[in-house]
Amino acid sequence: MSNQTSAKRDGFVSSLGILLAMTGSAVGLGNLWRFPYLVGENGGATFIIFYLVCVIFICMPIMVCEFIIGRRSQANAFGAYKRLGGDKGWKVAGLLSVLAAAFILSFYSVVGGWSIRYLVLACGLKFTAAGGIQPETMFNSFVTSTWAPIIYTLIFLACTGIIIVAGVKNGIEKFTKALMPVLFVLMVILAVRSMTLPGAGEGVRYLFKPDFSKFTSSSAIAALGQAFFSLSLGCGTILTYASYVPRKENILKCSAETTALDTLFALIAGCAIMPAVFAYGISPGQGPGLVFVTLPAIFSELPAGGFAAILFFVSLFLAALTSAISLLEVVIAFLIEECNLRRPVAVGVSMSVFVVLAVLCSLSQGALSHVKIFSLNIFDLFDYVSANVLMTFGALLAVLFVGHKLKRADIQDELSSGGIYGVPRGFFKALYFIIRWAAPAVIIAILIAGLIS
Ligand code: TRP
Repeated sequence: MSNQTSAKRDGFVSSLGILLAMTGSAVGLGNLWRFPYLVGENGGATFIIFYLVCVIFICMPIMVCEFIIGRRSQANAFGAYKRLGGDKGWKVAGLLSVLAAAFILSFYSVVGGWSIRYLVLACGLKFTAAGGIQPETMFNSFVTSTWAPIIYTLIFLACTGIIIVAGVKNGIEKFTKALMPVLFVLMVILAVRSMTLPGAGEGVRYLFKPDFSKFTSSSAIAALGQAFFSLSLGCGTILTYASYVPRKENILKCSAETTALDTLFALIAGCAIMPAVFAYGISPGQGPGLVFVTLPAIFSELPAGGFAAILFFVSLFLAALTSAISLLEVVIAFLIEECNLRRPVAVGVSMSVFVVLAVLCSLSQGALSHVKIFSLNIFDLFDYVSANVLMTFGALLAVLFVGHKLKRADIQDELSSGGIYGVPRGFFKALYFIIRWAAPAVIIAILIAGLIS
């Protein structure tokens, strides 16, 4: 990156803006859709407790590493490793992150498109008793059809692109600062509605009363994997956003707050969904169909369910959108700084690639469902490769880089923002130990477990 570009580099301006942009990236389909169904499949409260342990002791330190690399280098994911790592090898880590972000965005925007479709249906009061839909048939015939899901996916990608063209300060920061509070209020309203239904108490108990006998080693791996995914680790998004964070910000505080808010959103989503599921006598282990099949069925029976459906699908759309913009920004920052493209050109170029990839992912649910690579369709392949391979390697390389390549003094300097903030010695020692040894060991264990399964 030339000095000229770095002098003009766009960036965040307010602490709240940074926190909400980071939280916007982390809070996504993972919180509203994946977390509740994993909780349902893995025995409720015990899963949640293990999830919290993973988040605090493993995932937050990894997030801190990405923060350190991004903020210290003030560059895109690839440029960051190049600047700080010097030799050639580390650049691969940056490249993996950019690739992971690109793969995730391709299938994420398809699900983002589904959320828009469901929002449109909800606004047409389809999820009411009078709507008369068959949720399962409707979902299957929609996602396997050719044109409709593609059109909604393209609308979703267009929304993402428009925000990103506006830049970091005027696009990402402005939008997430306005949207995240709205998302929070909507989710709280839904949780209150769900928890006050007759018979909801059992769902609340299911979420918060641990039953250790239900906990298996595969639940443990699922909890760790979910914590990883939910905090958007290993795909360069935290790193890229951190590169826009001014030097005076306290990055430890920001990582802790982002982690806390992401977890809070996941728990609120659990409270919005599980009590209603129990109140309607549905089994909690519905799997991935929970959001698009089970919930519409519940909305159509719920008093004022049509309204709840609108709130829910607006939330799902907003959550997906604020995550998608962070994914796109990883690629855009790379194109601007490494290929010297102007922002609008970078958005145009990357969009043309994403349109093709996303259309392939969308078609793989229907017309192209016979195309299998390693016995997975294209959508599942992108999901698998990014979540199980690229993100995990990306995170592993980030912790190894901070723990074994950066100097201890530089890490301390970054964590204290050059001495502005005190970092207690014992705390630093524990964190440094996790970053150097515990986190890499756990990530390698996940990689092995993923390969075996
Ligand atoms: N954290 C997002 C969620 O909970 C999913 C995700 C994974 C993601 N990696 C990401 C989002 C990178 C944005 C950027 O849904």
